[in-house]
Amino acid sequence: MRIRNLAVAALGVAALCGASGCRKHARTAKVDPLLAAYDSEADWNDSTKMIPLGYQQAQGKRVFYQYCVWCHADSTPAGPSNRSNLTPVPALLDDGATLNAESDEYLGNIITLGGSALGKSAMMPPYGRTLSPEEIRSVIAFTRAIAQPPYQPPGRPGSQYSAR
Ligand code: HEC
Repeated sequence: MRIRNLAVAALGVAALCGASGCRKHARTAKVDPLLAAYDSEADWNDSTKMIPLGYQQAQGKRVFYQYCVWCHADSTPAGPSNRSNLTPVPALLDDGATLNAESDEYLGNIITLGGSALGKSAMMPPYGRTLSPEEIRSVIAFTRAIAQPPYQPPGRPGSQYSAR
C-alpha cells in the first residue's frame, strides 16, 4: 500500500516536471551573471540589456533612486524628472562620455561638497551631511557600472589587467 502511494507520488512529480519544464530551469541556471548579482539595472539606452550589480553598486543604486534620480535621469519613479528645467542641464548619471573622464576623487568631492564648492552650479547640492562616505563611494560605483560607453578604470597602460 505504502509502496504504491510512493510510486504514485513519484509519477506525479515526473508529470509536473514534464509539464513545467524543470529541466529547462536547470539549464538557464548555468552561467547567467544576473543570477549571481545583488541587483540589476536596465541599460538606460537599451532596456533589453540588463547590467548585473555587485553589492556596493546595488547599494549605490538605492542611493541614486532616493536622492539623485530627480536631476540626473530623464524619468523617475514618480514620472518625468526635473533635469530639463535646470541650467546647466546635469549629466545623466550613465553619461560615460562626460563622467568616465572624471576621477572617483572628483566625483566624490562634488557629491560631498556640492557644485558651488567646486566652482560649478549650486543646483548640485552637497551630500556630505546627508550621505556617509560609504554611501557616496557606492553611488560612484553605481555610476561606473551603468556608464555608456562603459567605464574603464584607470590602469597601467599595456598591463595584462587593462580591458583593452
Ligand atoms: C537638484 C538637482 C540635483 C540633484 C538632486 C543632484 N544633482 Fe548632481 N548635479 C546637478 C547639477 C545642476 C549639476 C551640474 C553642475 C555644473 O555643471 O555646474 C550636477 C553635477 C553633478 C556631477 C558632476 C557631473 C559633471 O558633469 O562633472 C556629479 C558627479 C553629480 N552631480 C552627482 C550627483 C549625485 C551622485 C547625486 C545624488 C546623491 C546628485 N548629483 C544629485 C543637480 C543635481
